Amino acid sequence: MADQQLTTDILILGTGGAGLMAALHAFWHDPTLDITLVSKGLLGKSGCTRMVQGGYNVALDPKDSIQAHFEDTVKGGAFLNDQDLAWTLVEDAPRIVRELENRIGCLFDRAPHGRIHQKAFAGQSFDRTVHVGDLTGIEIMARLRDQVFATNVRCLEATRGLELLTASPNGEVIGVLLLDIQTGEFIVVRAKAVILCTGAGPLMYQRSACAQEKAMDGIAMAYRAGAHLMDMEMVQFHPTGMVVPGSNLNGALLEEGLRGAGAYLFNNQAERFMVRYDAERMERSTRDRVSRASFLEIRAGRGTDNGGVWVDVSHLGARFVEQNFAGMRERCLRIGFDLAREKVEVCPTAHFNMGGIRINKGGFTNLQGLFAAGEDSAGVHGANRLGGNGVAESTVFGARVGESVAQWVKGREHAQPDPSQIQETKAQANGFLENDNRESPWPLRDELGKLMWNQVGIVRTGAALEVAIKSIKALQDQAKATGALGVRAFNPTWQQALDLQNLLTASELIARSALLRQDSRGAHFREDFPQTDHANWLKNIYVSRNGDGPKLWTEPVKLTRIGLT
Ligand code: FUM
Repeated sequence: MADQQLTTDILILGTGGAGLMAALHAFWHDPTLDITLVSKGLLGKSGCTRMVQGGYNVALDPKDSIQAHFEDTVKGGAFLNDQDLAWTLVEDAPRIVRELENRIGCLFDRAPHGRIHQKAFAGQSFDRTVHVGDLTGIEIMARLRDQVFATNVRCLEATRGLELLTASPNGEVIGVLLLDIQTGEFIVVRAKAVILCTGAGPLMYQRSACAQEKAMDGIAMAYRAGAHLMDMEMVQFHPTGMVVPGSNLNGALLEEGLRGAGAYLFNNQAERFMVRYDAERMERSTRDRVSRASFLEIRAGRGTDNGGVWVDVSHLGARFVEQNFAGMRERCLRIGFDLAREKVEVCPTAHFNMGGIRINKGGFTNLQGLFAAGEDSAGVHGANRLGGNGVAESTVFGARVGESVAQWVKGREHAQPDPSQIQETKAQANGFLENDNRESPWPLRDELGKLMWNQVGIVRTGAALEVAIKSIKALQDQAKATGALGVRAFNPTWQQALDLQNLLTASELIARSALLRQDSRGAHFREDFPQTDHANWLKNIYVSRNGDGPKLWTEPVKLTRIGLT
């Protein structure tokens, strides 16, 4: 069967907040452009933006300031941030949040005076999180999808990117080979520009809060094509994932508004253990510190029988909890806890990649024709992301990349992909389907989850990371021999074999970067180097592909706006 062919000006992989904002801004800039969105799931219903409960950080109140938001972001990121990107985030956020309301149609909750209500999140010097109850992402994604429907932007749903198509000799990105998950057919796309907004997603950890379709696809494809990645060791664990052993809900979030509103965290001895780890901020400390504190309590034998701790908001009053956290309360009721009236078992859960593809303010990467925004990119959050800065990032940088790419493609021509690259990628993908002697990928996925959790997780050591790298290499070899039986159409085991390749690629880069960084900073904690060492490690770690393996290097962080405080 001949492959489908598609020629488009701008191809956007990913349909979360970053992807949809990129599409809308490119379209608004030039409605004559041919723009294609690719969603691994369904438009508006997949990815992590839709899952956002808490909200969107932005300095709107006259008593708040962009400078204060910036300083919170950089201090929260342990000074590893690209300060120009962090400044862009906080400076653009007020304009973009107004655009979300006034042009896109979101309606955020109001305070009694009629202005947008802003709630407390952790690690912030001012209550600046805009929200819609505790179901903010549904509002943002529903309205963004409505706007996309009002354009002529094409959307290919249930379709995944397999490989970026590149041109010799410079590695310029000229298209993507896609796989239609519904039919199993390949689609060869020629594009003047490709924007990666697939949302990364640390699903290589056994407990993760992310949308299940994510598999680090964008980052793995970019790496294979020669993009420079940055700070891959920085993986965020959110402290309050639900503990539901054996269920897909295991690791799903209870959002940070709980800690912002005054939640207590208890160990199994009814101690508010945060007093030992951050006595000043207690439960309102940043995610890296709270997750580590919970992990250490559990490891010291002060956790629950299921390996968790307790979050408790019952002292805030049942009525307050029912009114303000209705979504979370309902979710907790489903697993047998009444959040309004009793404590709920929680545990850290892998949540977000601060690391990713190196970009500039326009979303440009080191590869011509390749752009990125949102969680696929790096630099904005440094070593730890503040809650509420994620959806702000995806909408701010999605808008920016859409506009810069709409300008960049003007006057450019399409290039012809190399048939041998297409054939090779198809053969690799088909190889995971056609051989009936292959092992199932699912057990290896479980093994990877345990390995990453135990050895490349919240607390790391050089010795464990070295073992992990060897084990990941062994899993990579084993994964080459996995595969699926059955039809091409909607074959989840085939998709899982493809996901596993990308997860393993990213896992190796996380582990190697974590081994190189010999200090503790933000989400990266090395028990053998427990101090933050600004003298030697105020550096970003970069990685790119060098033949068959990764090449790592460091560059000093540029403190372009504020110095160490
Ligand atoms: O679901 C949430 O509220 C997550 C927010 C965040 O990570 O920023």
